[in-house]
Amino acid sequence: MIPGPTAVPPTVLLEMARPMFNHRGPQFADLLVRVTAGLKAAFATQSEVFVLTCSGTGAMEAAVVNVLSPGDIVLSLPYGMFGKRFATIARTYGADVEEIETPWGRVPRGELLRERLAKDVEGNIKAVLLTHNETSTGAQANIEELARARGNHPALLLVDSVSGLGAAPLRMDEWGLDVVVAASQKAFAAPPGLGFVAMSAKALKAMETAKMPRFYLDLRMARQFHAKGQTPFTPAISQIRTMAAALDMMEQEGLEQVIARHAKVARFCRETAQRMGFRLYAEPAGASNTVTTLCVPPGLDSRKLRQRMLDDYGVVVSGGQAHLENDLIRIGHLGAVTTIDIASTLEAMRLVLVGMGVEVPLQHKEASLASHVTSSL
Ligand SMILES: Cc1ncc(COP(=O)(O)O)c(C=O)c1O
Repeated sequence: MIPGPTAVPPTVLLEMARPMFNHRGPQFADLLVRVTAGLKAAFATQSEVFVLTCSGTGAMEAAVVNVLSPGDIVLSLPYGMFGKRFATIARTYGADVEEIETPWGRVPRGELLRERLAKDVEGNIKAVLLTHNETSTGAQANIEELARARGNHPALLLVDSVSGLGAAPLRMDEWGLDVVVAASQKAFAAPPGLGFVAMSAKALKAMETAKMPRFYLDLRMARQFHAKGQTPFTPAISQIRTMAAALDMMEQEGLEQVIARHAKVARFCRETAQRMGFRLYAEPAGASNTVTTLCVPPGLDSRKLRQRMLDDYGVVVSGGQAHLENDLIRIGHLGAVTTIDIASTLEAMRLVLVGMGVEVPLQHKEASLASHVTSSL
């Protein structure tokens, strides 16, 4: 029940067991075409999507190094750990990064971006770094509103949607986003190991003159190879097969329905947790479709609570990140997670807390779900 990697449906997982084939032959070319077509639908773009054998962070790095040059002025609007990571990557490659941090648990508003860009009358800011869903805090920004706030400013919009895409609305072309990053192990419910980078025509143009150093993540090379149904280097064939199966499932269900299902499970998690007396960490306006963060009752340690949930009920949830490690419980609800998974998780937490002497009300007045929760032991 962590916010990714998430449980992988058996039909997707089985793809890992299939034999290898030539990554420079027609079978791979067909596979790559199929996966990129599915990804374009997920990103809602007609432009180009690159499939990279790397984790989400690798895709974030690819986003930065392919459109920027050392010395470029970059605006970053972090509201948690992953936003700060995006800024760190840009700084590592020599960008001059200005961070305007929104307090964790809250989300940056369009107004914040509009006001800062309005001061940049000469258009010196080359790019804005945004996080769609901040997995470390369980808050989700309104990217459409932020994109609108850019107005006519020439800055590129780079969006980390690693834990958002496929679970929360994101319409790359319609909203005018320039680079959007995602990964296989989140809402797609495929195994970890693949990063995806979608680039607008404007970003592809910027790529031609960008001077940040790059080799493995050089998307100019990836572009040339993608055009002939290949990747520059040996791809993770098995993982790409799982991704094809995951995208097929997504297509069958329909992207809008997949997003609606995530929203429903997320709402169920928040409402049930609140009924049980838990305080939500993220502000209601930024409630995430993929991860819910609960404040640990005062005087308790998230680590002990999580260990007992694992030992007694076989349920794995995450703690907070960075300075919030002991204060939060993060429950992931991406991919194939259902409301009954959430109900069981919350009941396991309730039982552990009761065992620790903390009074926690039942999810529903009528009955406890305790009888349905089986121990892994
Ligand atoms: C919002 C966000 N960005 C980036 C990442 C980094 O992805 P990875 O761990 O695959 O490198 C994560 C991973 O949890 C994430 O949630």
